[in-house]
Amino acid sequence: MEWEYLNGDGDFRSDEVKVLRDEADIIITNPPFSLFREFLAWIIEANKKFIIIGNMNAITYKEVFPLIKENKMWVGNTPITGSRWFEVKGHCNNKFMEIIDGKQMVPIKAIWFTNIEHGRRHQPMQLMTMAENIKFSRHKEIRNQEYQKYDNYDAIEVPFSDAIPSDYDGVMGVPISFLDKYCPEQFEILGMDDHRIIYPQWRGRGPDLNGKPVYRRIIIRKKKGI
Ligand SMILES: C[S@@+](CC[C@H](N)C(=O)[O-])C[C@H]1O[C@@H](n2cnc3c(N)ncnc32)[C@H](O)[C@@H]1O
Repeated sequence: MEWEYLNGDGDFRSDEVKVLRDEADIIITNPPFSLFREFLAWIIEANKKFIIIGNMNAITYKEVFPLIKENKMWVGNTPITGSRWFEVKGHCNNKFMEIIDGKQMVPIKAIWFTNIEHGRRHQPMQLMTMAENIKFSRHKEIRNQEYQKYDNYDAIEVPFSDAIPSDYDGVMGVPISFLDKYCPEQFEILGMDDHRIIYPQWRGRGPDLNGKPVYRRIIIRKKKGI
């Protein structure tokens, strides 16, 4: 790119780009995934509104998850599973590359992170009670069986967001894909496996169920009065 209003190379960490940041009302961009943590911290320190693209894995970063937990940042309206398509220029050896409308496009597990309100996140999930789930759930892992408790934590395992029982007041472990259905008036986020200091054995994986770790769980509880 060429520009005339900067003296340096446009690095977001430079003083002159910080001045531009401080003047901005909203920052909208797709920062390099490798600098995502640093870029997010750079936005947060300036207390700016933002809509940025990041890798889905960024949810689990220790610099990122606390912001989601504290409702200082959330995911956008687009479902977080699946991929977004990005144009790539020049030689591309990505085996999933497709030519779409004459452009080289590759699928990337990228999602929107923002601190700008949107209506979807205030729509509560429509859920069945525990008894209804056991009777009617479309998931064979749920139907006709009890919800299981973890071996090493007082919470039940809920392997699908649509199987969260509406009448359970205790703590539940849910998949990360819960986040695009999360409504802060309906549930509170208590933590994530990686961030529970009292359970260091969970680091980088989920709690144990029947002696085996469950891959990455967000720990939630129903809001009182819901
Ligand atoms: C994922 S790309 C997005 C590019 C652009 N938004 C677009 O759609 O064409 C990330 C961009 O950040 C630039 N970049 C890398 N390190 C940077 C830094 N420290 N400061 C500013 N930009 C940087 C890269 O050169 C790249 O163009």
